[in-house]
Amino acid sequence: MSHQPIRRADYLPPDFGIDRVELEFDLEPARTLVRARLAIRRIGASDAALVLDGEDMELLGLALDGNALAADRYRLEPTRLTIPGVPDAFELVIDGAIAPAANTALEGLYISSSVFCTQCEPEGFRRITWFLDRPDVLSVFRTTIRAERARFPILLSNGNLAAARDLGDGRHEAVWDDPFPKPSYLFALVAGDLAVVEDRFTTRSGRDVALKILVEHGKEGRAGYAMDSLKRSMRWDEETYGLEYDLDVFHIVAVSDFNMGAMENKSLNVFNDRFILADPATATDLDYANVEGVVAHEYFHNWTGNRITCRDWFQLSLKEGLTVYRDQEFTADERSRAVKRIQDVRVLRARQFPEDGGPLAHPIRPDSYLEINNFYTATVYEKGAEVIRMLEALLDRDGFRRGMDLYVARHDGEAATCDQFVAAMADANGRDLSHFLRWYGQAGTPRLTLEQSHDAATGTYALTVSQRTPPTPGQPDKLPLHLPVHMGLIGRDGAEIPLRLEGENAPQGTSRVLELTEASQTWRFVGVEAPPVLSINRGFAAPVVVESSESEDDLALRMRADADPFSRWEAAQSFATRLLLAGIAAAAEGRPPPPTDAFVAALAAAFDAVEGDPAFAAELLALPGELYLAEQVAVIDVEAIHAARKALRAAVAQGLVDRLRHVRTGPPRPFAPDAASAGHRALANMALGYLSTIDGPAAAMAQYRAADNMTDRFSALAILSELDVPERTAALADFHDRHAGDALVLNKWLGLQAGSSLPDTLATVRALLDHPAFSYGNPNKIYALVGGFAGNALRFHAADGSGYAFMVDQILRLDPQNPQVASRLLKAFGRWRRFDADRQALMRDAMERIAATPGLSPDCREIVGLSLA
Ligand code: ARG
Ligand code: ZN
Repeated sequence: MSHQPIRRADYLPPDFGIDRVELEFDLEPARTLVRARLAIRRIGASDAALVLDGEDMELLGLALDGNALAADRYRLEPTRLTIPGVPDAFELVIDGAIAPAANTALEGLYISSSVFCTQCEPEGFRRITWFLDRPDVLSVFRTTIRAERARFPILLSNGNLAAARDLGDGRHEAVWDDPFPKPSYLFALVAGDLAVVEDRFTTRSGRDVALKILVEHGKEGRAGYAMDSLKRSMRWDEETYGLEYDLDVFHIVAVSDFNMGAMENKSLNVFNDRFILADPATATDLDYANVEGVVAHEYFHNWTGNRITCRDWFQLSLKEGLTVYRDQEFTADERSRAVKRIQDVRVLRARQFPEDGGPLAHPIRPDSYLEINNFYTATVYEKGAEVIRMLEALLDRDGFRRGMDLYVARHDGEAATCDQFVAAMADANGRDLSHFLRWYGQAGTPRLTLEQSHDAATGTYALTVSQRTPPTPGQPDKLPLHLPVHMGLIGRDGAEIPLRLEGENAPQGTSRVLELTEASQTWRFVGVEAPPVLSINRGFAAPVVVESSESEDDLALRMRADADPFSRWEAAQSFATRLLLAGIAAAAEGRPPPPTDAFVAALAAAFDAVEGDPAFAAELLALPGELYLAEQVAVIDVEAIHAARKALRAAVAQGLVDRLRHVRTGPPRPFAPDAASAGHRALANMALGYLSTIDGPAAAMAQYRAADNMTDRFSALAILSELDVPERTAALADFHDRHAGDALVLNKWLGLQAGSSLPDTLATVRALLDHPAFSYGNPNKIYALVGGFAGNALRFHAADGSGYAFMVDQILRLDPQNPQVASRLLKAFGRWRRFDADRQALMRDAMERIAATPGLSPDCREIVGLSLA
């Protein structure tokens, strides 16, 4: 197979361009015929052979400029087709056959619930026809689709409908033209019997765009929020970046079998239906927010991804980091900026920081890969977005916008690189960002340490910030990075202190972005009468760990008085983390937990200070998660972490009991999916969870029964699912019966049971593998049940190794049918060196069992290889 490591340094431009592609599909589930007519032009060396990518297809015929090619004129191998001696410009017609119904990897053309659909990013197009399947080959596509009308009344591809006709024999045909040159990974085709939800949008320059969301029949009523999100996204991109939609139609198709979240194919986005379908009875507030965010993300790709694409897959963060940043900003503008930031940082710390600190660490622009599907990671996406956000902090909003404008002006219609993006940012602002570029090549989470001193005689406060990035695989020595230090100073009275650096004539505000470029730098502020309280990394401006030994008094002050809401939350998290780490150490040694009074009092004061912002209050009350805590200890002890967190929860519940009860009073509110209403539910459900540690299951059971929306019902069920009480069994059974037949809702039910801390969870999960709600053919179900168990630190890491053995069985069963899903699950073993010796040995054995399996996919081979290295 072609699976040798691919290296960024080896990039070479293609020898040929393909200007025009005409595809003809005769769709049949078992055997689909594909004819590709390619207009090819030599752009490289005159003696270069044409080498096309192709996998898992049957070649039926080849013709060059109208002449059939005899078998001795080309060489067909499992992953490529080589034609030597081709002219400088020619037309190649390729006839092939593929088997969509047998496609369980869900890459290329496959069938989901009787609907033909495609997933071509990153290398799926080579399973549809032979092609230069690389993102720097841009072509204009015309796609003709023929299929039986009764089973496949809807025939879609990219661009505008050019023609449609009946073929007489029960079949029909549609022809689609996409005028925008695009790489093959943005090609899409959908054919099936789907319901269409329609709306319109007028762009600010007056283009009338038809918006169509296609869903399973009967689910039309669940597409409204996605449609609303789409229209708001379109408006936001015009207002924020001046970027308009460029075709007359925009399609979104929701399918139930999809490896990832969604795909930005030009004018024909294909979505995992869990990111489209939402109504009050079936979707939680988190589901609504995810629908909004993913719809926006895929829409925003039309510019950052499609109009300007990536030169090669090492540049993936060029489109993904930037587009994640854009969808985060959209949500911040539409909802609460502070709450959005908190939620994004939580995800970054729970998923990206561990990745960046383990054997799978890689820069946001990786240097090599075996299987590019393995690099659709939290690092490329979420850390990539943080790097973009730092540019915004360093250049400020207007400067960032100037950079975006220049980037679009320079590279529209091109396949670009990360270097070119940063160059546009630099040139538009007259800045040198060469040092900043290190973020693209250096992996690992930087750690900042602080030194502070105050000189009362001169009123001078000095802050020294030092940075150090721990080694990561292949990168033993790290260089200092260029990063924003967003800071403020707070007086003992809680007031922000005007910030005047030595040498400045006047203070410049109370919140500033300093630029750290050296290993260590000192700033001196004057006019600071008394020792201040430092508020640093405001808004989480840089994706770093700040090692600070701030006193409990200072943390408490900042929890209620820091002008930056993110930093108020951060102070609460730091205080809680400190207590939890002490509690973890105590639990491991069988000592009583540390006193919590000071923290609880500070939390109460902070809570009182945010009256009127329930969404923020709910975030304040949420203790650091188990994954985050695991990152903070030398040797992960899952039982001690779980116990310490449980103990602190109980203490908070006792200490805040009156406030928590008060939250739960007041008349019921009618359901609305907006952020403000969701905030009330978030706080009420947070309170319910805490109170259940005091009161037991009765209130949760009552809410479960009375709820008129999924957020309240599911929150109650989640609380019950952590309690070993008869109500738990009753509620789980009721939930199942209420939603029988609704796959998306039953996935929540599977996930909840897989994530439960109760001791019989593994047995439950094993039994659920045979439940009709589960199926190995559907990634959502696998992620809910098997992935949910892998994310259950307490049970996955059971001391007897039963959790590991179970996961190995699942991974090996899935790998032959869907390597992408198998390799995602395999990443759960990545942090094995962080556990005690017994667990390390068990996890290593587990991975070695996988490594020794004949026929293992390159996807899993790469992950297991990196993990064990
Ligand atoms: N570009 C898509 C997105 O951001 C992700 C597609 C990845 N698919 C894959 N099979 N790796 O949103
Ligand atoms: Zn994306």
